[in-house]
Amino acid sequence: MIQIDYPDRTLRTFIALDVDLLVREELAAWLRAARAGRQLRAVRPENMHLTLAFLGERSGAELSLVAGILEDHARLAPRLAVGAPIWLPRRRPRALTVEIRALDENLTALQSYLARSLAQALDWKQARAFRPHITVARLGRAAEPHLDPLPPTPQLEFTAKSVTLYRSELLPEGAEYEVLKSWELNEA
Ligand code: 2AM
Repeated sequence: MIQIDYPDRTLRTFIALDVDLLVREELAAWLRAARAGRQLRAVRPENMHLTLAFLGERSGAELSLVAGILEDHARLAPRLAVGAPIWLPRRRPRALTVEIRALDENLTALQSYLARSLAQALDWKQARAFRPHITVARLGRAAEPHLDPLPPTPQLEFTAKSVTLYRSELLPEGAEYEVLKSWELNEA
């Protein structure tokens, strides 16, 4: 069970796969090379993750249901690879991200289980088709994405070893994430 310290309020939350520090640092280094002349706010490596489901504002009771959903699953560790850079959302980009490619079926299995279970338990709806990615930078308010080519992303493969229910707090200096609860993923 998750103990929420603020029983009378909701928390802005999301579920994400955690990414090895080495991978996050390599992505931060890639961003430094990609950034020249672009108005981008880097995401700090400690804030990089792969979102599986954005939950929005949720009560303590709802978050206990979410914890139960994560506990009830086999949670097999997905094997992943860093893919090409993509600006998201496609139509009016606000973020520079790197695509994440699944090297086995565990990513799809976990994300579709979550989508199904969250829809049933919380009436949760996925805002748009799941497109696995890690956001590495955000565009400033007035900035436009540069469409000139980006340097190739580092060729990296990794196993996601945990899944976390995060709280996201929106602060003037950017979002801050707090771990509410983490679950280890089982490696074959
Ligand atoms: P992003 O990295 O593509 O911006 C916390 O905000 C996390 O939830 C971010 O990683 C963000 O993805 C993701 N997210 C997905 N849908 C969101 C939404 N409608 N509003 C805010 N964040 C969302």
